[in-house]
Amino acid sequence: MAKTGYTALLDEGEKLSREALSRVQLQRMQKALQHAYENSPHYRASFDQAGVTPSDLKSLSDLGKFPFTTKENLRTNYPFGMFAVPQDRIARIHASSGTTGKPTVVGYTRRDIDTWAQLVARSIRAAGGRPGMKVHVAYGYGLFTGGLGAHYGAEALGCTVIPMSGGQTEKQVQLICDFEPDIIMVTPSYMLAILDEFRRQDIDPRKTSLKIGIFGAEPWTASMRAAIEEAFDMDAVDIYGLSEVIGPGVANECVETKDGLTIWEDHFYPEIIDPATGEVLPEGELGELVFTSLTKEAMPVIRYRTRDLTRLLPCTARPMRRMERISGRSDDMLIIRGVNVFPSQIEEQILRVSALSPHYYIQVSRHNRLDILSVFVERKPGASDAEAKDASAELKRHVKNAVGVSIETHIAPEGSIERSAGKAKRIHDLREKD
Ligand code: DLL
Repeated sequence: MAKTGYTALLDEGEKLSREALSRVQLQRMQKALQHAYENSPHYRASFDQAGVTPSDLKSLSDLGKFPFTTKENLRTNYPFGMFAVPQDRIARIHASSGTTGKPTVVGYTRRDIDTWAQLVARSIRAAGGRPGMKVHVAYGYGLFTGGLGAHYGAEALGCTVIPMSGGQTEKQVQLICDFEPDIIMVTPSYMLAILDEFRRQDIDPRKTSLKIGIFGAEPWTASMRAAIEEAFDMDAVDIYGLSEVIGPGVANECVETKDGLTIWEDHFYPEIIDPATGEVLPEGELGELVFTSLTKEAMPVIRYRTRDLTRLLPCTARPMRRMERISGRSDDMLIIRGVNVFPSQIEEQILRVSALSPHYYIQVSRHNRLDILSVFVERKPGASDAEAKDASAELKRHVKNAVGVSIETHIAPEGSIERSAGKAKRIHDLREKD
């Protein structure tokens, strides 16, 4: 891609120099803290308790003096207690379903919706999308931020949106064939279900009109990227976000480098902390990602602990910093006989075994006080029993060598592992909670 032509497409925020960006961040952060302190009883109380006021922020590094915000804070203030504007200024509400209990509720003003749309537009453009392209949105529509977030962003970029939502896999394939979209936005695991449907219908997925896939909402690996790119003959890039911070479009990979996700730092200020101590870690170290929203009106978040694990990387394709692909959530980390294991590490190894498909889940059980990690994975269509048997031994060997744990494997028949139309559930924990 010609660099000169490309730079002309960037918006003002993306073109800021590092120095100008830092200035904008500081000004916006001071305003965001002030807004939160003045208009949200939660932040007033938490700042007061920590003995800080917004005027204590003189430089960006002063942010470390301010208290964290957690998912628990959002739960305690359910449903609307975190909002910092009167209800009649709330233009939209989204919610993400927690694994237990009440959902996490988030709100947007009209201007927040516009900011969000601009950032998703920026994300789609970073992925290679251009005005006039057709975008097939297969993220779920509804309270989940994926569908509507992608939709408004694609419209803001000037694309034609096909609001398909998740599910109805046969119809997904039909519309991809008939409407000829250039871009698909969907979770990577559901993309694999769509791929299976192409094969079931004996349609060559490499011959579709799709050129770009924008995948996120769940962890996926570099090997999964390679598998999807090969299967569809497309560029596959990573999009990251979370409802509490805004939704999709907090960070996005640039197609020209595919080297991690550029964080839209003019709107979201990132920090990496040690999840155990809360201490801010130096750039480049692996830890928990924390975000402070710089421009949000309805529900500002100050030092929100995402529980996602990654590291900050220097800028490449844009003047903004990048983050490495999320290796997992701290909640998804399994400790098996003292070894930390993430589902993504198992996924890497599954994809190395040619007779296995990428449909899998991990079951953890306990027997005689010992944790047992079992990987349930489907064999590739057409793989023989002998190949499946070899694959099982190969996977055990790879996991032992690369991850350091012994696993049990269950090679399941084709199509037997439940497909999800949204985020895949990778861990089935059968252990009794102590
Ligand atoms: O998943 C927003 C989203 C929609 C992002 C569509 C990208 C595409 P939540 O339902 O609140 O919001 O879930 C947020 O999903 O904290 C991560 O753990 C995980 N996640 C999101 N994107 C990625 C990604 C949406 N690219 C939670 N890689 C986050 C890994 C991701 N994990």
